[in-house]
Amino acid sequence: MSFDSELFKHYWHLVAHRRELLDANDFVKFDTPLGELVLFNDQGTLVAFDNKCPHRGSRIYTQDCGNQAWACGYHGWSYQAGKVVVPDPQRFEACALNSPVLHAYQLEWCGDFIFVGIEPYSSLSEQLGSLTETLENISFNIAARRDFNRYPFECYWPIAIENALEPYHIPLIHTDTLATLGLTEGVNRFEGCNSVWRAPVSNSRIAKQLTGLKRLFNIDYQEEQYLSIFIFPFTMISSTFGYSYSIQNFFPAKTSAHTHFTSRLYAAPTASDNAATIVEPFLLSSAATNRKVFAEDHAVCKNVTSDAWTADPLPFASTLEEKIVHFREQCRTFTSLTNARNVS
Ligand code: FES
Ligand SMILES: [Fe+2]
Repeated sequence: MSFDSELFKHYWHLVAHRRELLDANDFVKFDTPLGELVLFNDQGTLVAFDNKCPHRGSRIYTQDCGNQAWACGYHGWSYQAGKVVVPDPQRFEACALNSPVLHAYQLEWCGDFIFVGIEPYSSLSEQLGSLTETLENISFNIAARRDFNRYPFECYWPIAIENALEPYHIPLIHTDTLATLGLTEGVNRFEGCNSVWRAPVSNSRIAKQLTGLKRLFNIDYQEEQYLSIFIFPFTMISSTFGYSYSIQNFFPAKTSAHTHFTSRLYAAPTASDNAATIVEPFLLSSAATNRKVFAEDHAVCKNVTSDAWTADPLPFASTLEEKIVHFREQCRTFTSLTNARNVS
């Protein structure tokens, strides 16, 4: 199995927030190096599975996200309340129908964030370590998903991740977007295999505007700066002042020619209906700016050839690329661990 598939298989991945799957039949679908993965609400219980009908493998969900009952259009099998329902069961030998089950994956909560695991090497709390508390706090300060943005990045996934891990490119690539915040060099923290970058906003006009918005939100956790969290190996969370959070998955594709990129914007709860009306243009503009930032990142990432990436130490590492150094160390550690497990 390839490095990408092994990583996908053996880590937990943040796939959704409780608020985007509140109603029965809400679902979200992902492409992964192991095939499709769907998370859906089965009458209040979340279920993750491979999007294949247990009868003869027809795909159940074809949209990226939405609300749709689990029903197979091929021969009419359905799934409800934890059971596969087969029409005309008398057509089958009794033994053949004893236990048609979904090919389901493990789920684990961190606050209101939900993670999926195929065969994770560690528990979710071990994987997240000291990051757990920050993620719980963020998850409890999210009211709703506001944007869902998906397209293939035309580059190998570690190139997109490493781009997201360094602020070195911000002045040249995000001139009219992220660079306008005037982010200072900030501070990196390494939390197990994960990393966090916190950088104050030095543009005092923007900082003042952002501080002034606080009265419109009903939040009990806020970092009044730019926050960028990397959850090894494929997920980033970013936020400016905690009024909204952008979560990006850079899942590997089956080839290194592209990456399954999904970004979602989640808004913090507002203080009142009136406050919600006032912040609406701000949230719309945040969603639009985020889309622009990712388009800028995509344009530069697709200019890097996939064979430019290895897990070897960077030949030239600036002080702004420490998180890449750490990321590559984690990749090498994972490879050694996997090789050792495969031998034993
Ligand atoms: S493949 Fe789904 S019911 Fe036959
Ligand atoms: Fe960027």
